[in-house]
Amino acid sequence: MSETKKFYVTTPIYYANDEPHIGHSYTTILADVLTRYHQSAGEETFFLTGLDEHGLKVQQAAEANGIDPQDHCDKMAPKWKALWEKLHIRYSNFIRTTEPRHEKVVQDVLNNVNDAGDIYVDEYGGHYCVGCERFYTEKELEGGKCPQHEKELEFITEKNYFFRMSKYQQQLIDYINDNPEFIQPEHRKNEILGFLRQPLEDLCISRPKSRLSWGVELPFDNDYVTYVWFDALLNYVTGPGYGSDAESFEKWWPETVHLIGKDILMTHAVYWPTMLMSAGIPLPKTIFAHGWWLMKESKMSKSLGNVVNPLELIDEYGVDPVRYYLMREMVLGQDSNFTMESFIKRYNADLANDFGNLLSRVSRLIEKNFDGKLPDWGTQTPAEEEIKKSAVSTASNMNALTHAMRINEAIEETMQFIRSVNRYMEQQAPWKLVKEDKAAAGRVLITAAEALRVGALLLNPVMPNRTLTVLETLGAVGTELKWGGLIPGNELKKHPPLFPRIEVENKTKTKTKTKTDAKEKSVENVITFDEFLKVELKTAKVVQAEIVEGADRLLKLQIDVGGERRQIVAGVAEFYSPEDLLEKMIVIVTNLTPAKIRGIESNGMLLAAKKGKKLTLITVENPEIGSGVSVG
Ligand code: ME8
Ligand code: MG
Repeated sequence: MSETKKFYVTTPIYYANDEPHIGHSYTTILADVLTRYHQSAGEETFFLTGLDEHGLKVQQAAEANGIDPQDHCDKMAPKWKALWEKLHIRYSNFIRTTEPRHEKVVQDVLNNVNDAGDIYVDEYGGHYCVGCERFYTEKELEGGKCPQHEKELEFITEKNYFFRMSKYQQQLIDYINDNPEFIQPEHRKNEILGFLRQPLEDLCISRPKSRLSWGVELPFDNDYVTYVWFDALLNYVTGPGYGSDAESFEKWWPETVHLIGKDILMTHAVYWPTMLMSAGIPLPKTIFAHGWWLMKESKMSKSLGNVVNPLELIDEYGVDPVRYYLMREMVLGQDSNFTMESFIKRYNADLANDFGNLLSRVSRLIEKNFDGKLPDWGTQTPAEEEIKKSAVSTASNMNALTHAMRINEAIEETMQFIRSVNRYMEQQAPWKLVKEDKAAAGRVLITAAEALRVGALLLNPVMPNRTLTVLETLGAVGTELKWGGLIPGNELKKHPPLFPRIEVENKTKTKTKTKTDAKEKSVENVITFDEFLKVELKTAKVVQAEIVEGADRLLKLQIDVGGERRQIVAGVAEFYSPEDLLEKMIVIVTNLTPAKIRGIESNGMLLAAKKGKKLTLITVENPEIGSGVSVG
């Protein structure tokens, strides 16, 4: 009998001294996305995140605000939790290092390590950085300054407690070599192995209360508190119940993946495993260090003061697009540049064009030709078999890639599948097919809709909100991944535009909220900029024009909008003869509800300039047919 697979993932616990930013959000979203993927593969999951509340940074932040450190942390914690909620983060447990359950673990482990003979007292001198909360040796300094914070460091000496880290050097090297998945990616492992070629020094694990009082007291000397890292790292075992709930602890530990940024690799890959060795606790399965989000080539962080407030991005573009961008753009393990340009490019190309358009196209055609009901599967042809095969292989590749933490490639797999479905639509042209062979058009449309259903399920861990809209539209909430989940005859639900395009020229003002994320404002007399942006304009070619019998102002036009045919009835007969309009390149509004004019269906409107009695259609020179028209 095979046991249900388990997945326990952690994020760093973030310093409670300040507000969360996009870098913290990235690691937490990554943990959430991985958790959801493992859940969708039927695994049991445990996802731990939280706050690092002790130490000098927090003490100083509280002092600066004139409040008690605990009050400061109590004020900060809800802010972090609120952001995680906003980002659709579903953690299993939120740990704060000032909780009694955790302080007890820290003291117990300190006692165990002491009992193992691995703690001693010594006089210590070093260059101390408050930002890093650690001593630097002469060698590590860059021009006398902290290499992380670029600040001049003071040399201080004091009596302190030390952990015999050096004793575990060889054991650690052997462990890393024997367990290739322990430190990932590979180049980080090599970095640590390189570092371990030098003799490993012992670790100072105490701070005299005279210098720092905000910490967990050493159980064997109450003039001292423990070094914040010795405290913080232990959250990973407190979370699942070390020392309090043996059953839960054994269930989750040590099958654990620690997600961290590369800034804290040393503490996780050297301090942490040696601490565990001394305490007799097995080592976690994987420490995965991702790269940095950079803005204009410097790491975004609080100390450097160029923080992007993720809340603003989310309010502007929605949560799911931000999650998508962060997950799709960063190659796990490497640095990425965060720019508005790349965000908008990704959004428009992948989300608006590839994914969102497919849904609106399919649902519009089903609405128009099949009364809004899913058509029959019909007789499958090799083209449908191809799509089905590709859906199955995409799903299995996704599963392998997400388990290997290659999230960006996993997402790209699905996007390629969606693009292949768009190509299938172009090739099959159900909007033409429907006139000759309605059943064939139906077969194409339900196949494309089914592909969308599979795509939505596969992207659900990344974009839980918008993919739910897709599933709701198709009546497929709760369906399984297996091909063939759609039921012919089911009525499609109306949906808001899934990913309204972002118009680049006006990106600072653009709002792209949809009903999925926020309540839409009702239309007022004066329309707002974001309402205006919902108007979709496209270039189109008139391919047929005829007079409407009995209506002397109307012309019935057939329009080519880049592979899609539309019929528009326009009141322009006073100004243009049908021949005048043939082959003309015009601009039309494409996203209006189809209307009936004199009993004839009209799907769109033309743009025209009007003065007094004169009317001139807006025409364009040599565009690609079906181009979006942007405002500037
Ligand atoms: O280091 N790009 O907390 P911290 C990507 N309390 N990730 C980033 C980032 C960026 N620009 N900036 C921050 C601490 N991060 C300790 C951890 S764990 C036992 C104790 C993420 O608030 C990344 O995960 O400085 C990084 O490792 C973490 O935030 C540091 O958060
Ligand atoms: Mg930091």
